[in-house]
Amino acid sequence: MQISAHQGQQIGLLARTIGARLAIEVGTFTGYSSLCIAERCPPTASSNAATSAPNGRRSRGAIGRRPAGRADRAHHRARHPDARPAADAGLAGKVDLAFIDADKESYDAYYERCLKLVRSGGLILVDNVLWGGSVIDPADNDADTKAIRALNAKLKADDRIDLALFAVGDGMTCALKR
Ligand SMILES: C[S@@+](CC[C@H](N)C(=O)[O-])C[C@H]1O[C@@H](n2cnc3c(N)ncnc32)[C@H](O)[C@@H]1O
Repeated sequence: MQISAHQGQQIGLLARTIGARLAIEVGTFTGYSSLCIAERCPPTASSNAATSAPNGRRSRGAIGRRPAGRADRAHHRARHPDARPAADAGLAGKVDLAFIDADKESYDAYYERCLKLVRSGGLILVDNVLWGGSVIDPADNDADTKAIRALNAKLKADDRIDLALFAVGDGMTCALKR
């Protein structure tokens, strides 16, 4: 479920390129992609990761928490029963980078929340936007495929961002907030 080292390198470089200090991840799993971001941020940076723990116990994200040498940069907190970042936590317009990689049916809601949180000139990265190629298969209409297809079309016409599709892994959208 985690991104490849190759994609991690690209995300890290993007974070460094925009001088990211505050990042949000939606969908953490073991925290690998969070670490790829954290290790390219200055020591005083912080990240907020949201992932789910339906039964309230610690989420998988906790497994990858705080390996040696990165404790100072990654502050993982499970925020909500679902992965939606708290849009009103005083972060609006302050986040440098958001990485969306959780349940696909909620992608549009995550995107809109992250767009509120991310500053102008900040980045929103959305993973799995090719969904194994299903997005171009007209016969494939399952809920995840339809959700990703709809978001792809929306972002293409969205004048709040500048857009590029990175053909890395399962496809990653890179949206620069205007
Ligand atoms: C693809 S994995 C994330 C991988 C991670 N970004 C990486 O590359 O290292 C997706 C994660 O999203 C979480 N997730 C899926 N649906 C969720 C939901 N509705 N709310 C919160 N988290 C969810 C899963 O538990 C899993 O940890």
